[in-house]
Amino acid sequence: MTPKFAKSSDGAVAIELVESGAFDAWLESQSAAGQNWAAVNGFSGKLGDVLVLPNADGQTSSVAVGWGSEQARGRDRFHLAGAAAKLPVGDYCLGGTHSVRDAEESALGWLLGMYRFDRYKTKPTAKANLVCPEGVNAAKIEAIAAGEYLTRDLINTPTSDLGPSDLQAAFLALAKQFGAKANVIEGEALLDQNFPMIHAVGRASDNAPRLLDMRWGDAKNRSVTLVGKGVCFDTGGLNIKPGASMGTMKKDMGGAATVMGLAHMIMALNLPVSLRVLVPAVENSISAGAFRPGDVLHSRKGLTVEINNTDAEGRLVLADALALADEESPDLLICMATLTGAARVAVGPDLVPFYSDDDDLAASVAQAGKDVCDPMWRMPFWEPYEAMIEPDIADLDNAPKGGHAGSITAALFLRRFVENAKQFAHFDIFGSAPVSKPGRPMGAVGQGARALLEVIANGNSK
Ligand code: BES
Ligand code: ZN
Ligand code: ZN
Repeated sequence: MTPKFAKSSDGAVAIELVESGAFDAWLESQSAAGQNWAAVNGFSGKLGDVLVLPNADGQTSSVAVGWGSEQARGRDRFHLAGAAAKLPVGDYCLGGTHSVRDAEESALGWLLGMYRFDRYKTKPTAKANLVCPEGVNAAKIEAIAAGEYLTRDLINTPTSDLGPSDLQAAFLALAKQFGAKANVIEGEALLDQNFPMIHAVGRASDNAPRLLDMRWGDAKNRSVTLVGKGVCFDTGGLNIKPGASMGTMKKDMGGAATVMGLAHMIMALNLPVSLRVLVPAVENSISAGAFRPGDVLHSRKGLTVEINNTDAEGRLVLADALALADEESPDLLICMATLTGAARVAVGPDLVPFYSDDDDLAASVAQAGKDVCDPMWRMPFWEPYEAMIEPDIADLDNAPKGGHAGSITAALFLRRFVENAKQFAHFDIFGSAPVSKPGRPMGAVGQGARALLEVIANGNSK
C-alpha cells in the first residue's frame, strides 16, 4: 500500500474544523436545517466528533470536525486523522486557513491514519482521501508516510513470512529501489569475519543469522550510520519467555524496520548525507545448538560477555554491529531497538526513551520530536550503574541481576561498543500501538524516525 493524497480537489468535500469555543458562532452561520442537524447529532465541536452535513438531495455537502480546545488537543496528536477514520469513503479537502505546521500535521496524520496491514486480506478496504492542503509539500509528506508504511509492514508481518532471510530480501529491495550498495554476511561467514555474537544469538535457527549492510550517497557528505535490532523472533532462547511475553515478539525487529523506514525517507528525499544502514538479522531460537546461560561470548570489539540471560539477546547482536559501525568513526551513529521491557515500565508504549552523551544532539532530537509529533524523552547514561554490567568472570554481563534500571543498563552496555563516533544516540523503542490512536492504528508503529529525519535534514547541531 502506498500513501497518496487525492489527485484533484474537484468534487472534494470541504472539512471545517470547529473549535468548541467557536461552536456558537459556527452554529449561527449554518442554515436552519444545518442547525437542526447539528442538534440532532449532538455535535458541539468536541475534539474528534464528526458531523457530515447533507445538501437538499441528501448528499454530502460538507463536513464539520470537532476541534475541541487547545488543552484537549495538547493531550494527543494527529487529531484530523482521528476524525478521518470516521468519514465515509470519498475525497476531502481541508477548509479554512491554517499554519503550515498545523496543515502538515493534519496531512501527515491523515496518511498515517489510513495505513492498513492488508497483506493477508483478500479484499482491500476503501478509504477517505485528502487533497494535500495548500502550502504543504505533498511529495515530502508522501515520502515520509511511505517510510513509515514500510516500517509498519515489516513489523506487522509474522515471522513465518519475515525470518532473517526475508528481512534480508526486504533490505536488498530497499537498497535496489534507491541504487544503494548492499552487502550480506551470512552464517559461518559471520565467524570468519569476526561477528561472533551475531552468530551465537542466531545459530539455533534454521534461518541463518546475518549482518545486512547498505551504503548510499556521496562519501564526501556527513556520515550517518543507522543500526537497528533485527531479531525476527525472540523466544527468549533457553531462558524461554512465558507465552504472554512471547506473543508479540514478531516485532523484535522493530529497530531494523524503523531504521529501514528512516533510510527510505532519507533516500527518497535525497538528503545530502553519506548513509550506512546496518541490521544484524537473527532469530533468537531454541535448539541443541543454542547459546546458553553461563556461556562467555567473545565480541567483535574484543570485550567478553557473560550470558546471564539468553533473553537479553538484542544488546549482543547490536554490540557487534555497533562495533563495526564505530570502526569508521561516523559523524552520527544511531541505534534503534526494541531492547527492554523496562523501557515500557518507565515511559509506556507511546514515548521513546533515548540516550546520548551529546547535549546538543539530545536537545535537537527532543525538539524535533515535538516539532513533528514523534515524542521522545532523554534518559541518562547513568555512570554509577556501570558496575551493574560488570560480572565476575568476564568484561560485561548481558543481564544484570535484579533488573533495576533495565533500560539504562542495556544502554550502558551498548555504549561500551562505541568509542569513535562523533555523536551517538540510542533509542529504546516499543514499535507498536497497543490500541488504535489518531494516525496510528493498532499494531506496528514507527517511533523516532520522523524526528531523526528532521535532525539529519537540519544537519543537526554540529
Ligand atoms: N525483545 C525484548 C524486549 C522487549 C520486550 C521489547 C517487550 C518490547 C516488548 C528483549 O530481548 C528482552 O527480552 N529483554 C529482557 C532483558 C532482561 C532479560 C535483562 C527484558 O527486558 O526483560
Ligand atoms: Zn529477548
Ligand atoms: Zn529481544
